[in-house]
This record gives sequence, C-alpha cells and structure tokens, in this order.
Amino acid sequence: MAIIKTTTKSITAIDGGSMEKSAELGVLFGCHKGVCGKCATDVLSGMSNLSAPSDAEKAMDLGPARRLMCQCVVKRGTVKLDLP
Ligand code: FES
Repeated sequence: MAIIKTTTKSITAIDGGSMEKSAELGVLFGCHKGVCGKCATDVLSGMSNLSAPSDAEKAMDLGPARRLMCQCVVKRGTVKLDLP
C-alpha cells in the first residue's frame, strides 16, 4: 500500500496505482492525457516512488520536482505533494 500526502492530509493508494487518486486531495484535472498541464503538481518528497516521467511530461519540461498527476503512478511508499 502506498500513501499520498499533502501538508495536512493523507490517503492510501494501491502500489502501482494512478496518481489521479490525488484528486481526493485537491489536485485538479482537465484532459487526463498529459496535454493541458492542469494537474501539474510539485512533489515535496518521494519522487523516487513515482514512475519515470512520461514522454508528455518530458515534452512539457516541468523541472525536476513537478509532475503531471495524470501521467504517473505511485510504485510504493509515500509521496508528498505541495498542496495544503
Ligand atoms: S489533466 Fe491534463 S495534463 Fe494532466
């Protein structure tokens, strides 16, 4: 079981599950296809627990600490997002 956290909230997710579950923590989604950038979120810790950046994320040049939640999965462990 994985854990997805913000600075004040926490939810569980299945290992290998989509980070789209972060919608429960307030992440907003648009296209769900890595195109609009609406779900881009800073990751405070646990980046190594996320899947490798997708081609869509690489094309968006998000920087080392920002990911598209619609494009990654949580492999295991804890991921902390920069959200209240
Ligand atoms: S919802 Fe559009 S890029 Fe993630």
